[in-house]
Amino acid sequence: MKNKITVSAPGKLMLFGEHAVIYGKPCIVTAVDQRIRVRVEKIGGSSITVNAPEVKVKDYSLKISDLGKIEYPKEIKFVLKAVENFFKKYQVKSGLNLETKSGFSSLFGFGSSSAVTVSTIKALSEIFDIEVGNKLLFDICYKTVLEVQGVGSGFDLAAAIWGGTIYFVGGGKKILPLKTKELPLVVGYTGIKADTATLVRKVAGLHKNNKKKVDEIFDSIEKLVRAAKIALENTDYPKLGELMDENQKLLYKLSVSTPELDNLIGSARQTGAFGAKLSGAGGGDCMIALADKSKTAKVKKAIEKSGGVVLDVKFNAEGVRIEK
Ligand code: PMV
Repeated sequence: MKNKITVSAPGKLMLFGEHAVIYGKPCIVTAVDQRIRVRVEKIGGSSITVNAPEVKVKDYSLKISDLGKIEYPKEIKFVLKAVENFFKKYQVKSGLNLETKSGFSSLFGFGSSSAVTVSTIKALSEIFDIEVGNKLLFDICYKTVLEVQGVGSGFDLAAAIWGGTIYFVGGGKKILPLKTKELPLVVGYTGIKADTATLVRKVAGLHKNNKKKVDEIFDSIEKLVRAAKIALENTDYPKLGELMDENQKLLYKLSVSTPELDNLIGSARQTGAFGAKLSGAGGGDCMIALADKSKTAKVKKAIEKSGGVVLDVKFNAEGVRIEK
């Protein structure tokens, strides 16, 4: 049994199916090469100490007996909820030192909270020598995320655990790794930080007030996600581009796009991308464009000219892993 371990997990980018996935529909997500690392050390005593330099948390400490009883600082809520849930589920406890290290800014919606939750639970399972398979790891993490955040489909956890590109049905009813080749995607950041929970609630409001119309939109999204799965497996970029445009139209109807996103998406299309759409909850954050390699430079330039920041990320990244 080890006393200390470092585990890392990747962030994610939603390719197709956001929002509808909350309502039990499928989506497609890919893991990105921006990782979060969590180092966990078992120590004596009865305190848990967390250091998370990216979010400016230094030597935050609480007693094990306070787990579940006090309000956690919001910057490290996921880490502490993960420890609380793990201790409760497996009836274990120990003093701990935890340290997180992020390879990406939590400003971009790359899923830092899901990656940190997955890394923490995986690290705990290793140092307490408890075998936790991927599906069980998903379930514990999903419970944790729902307790902290209240909403979410869990797609980002699946990406953090399995890595690669995944066909995922809301709540983890289906988690299907896809065989895909390289994806020539360009990612543009609007510069606007978006709050996923707020946007999910906004769509829930629309759904409540206009159930029939919104359900039809979700059904259309489901159809296109299924088509995208086939197009991805066949590396059919023109078809994928078409489906991205279709998905964007439906997201626009759900009122989650913004003028800034529309602007970046429009400029990518005008410079010859196969297709483009927002990625994630919307309200700002990132867009993605699929473009032939010969057009990538032009598309990137157009996004930047329209006020976006091009982010350099690789897709299909490896899932959760133990670091040396
Ligand atoms: O903004 P992101 O990248 O966390 O994506 C949210 C995607 C939603 O479908 C809106 C929410 C979810 O948990 O599936």
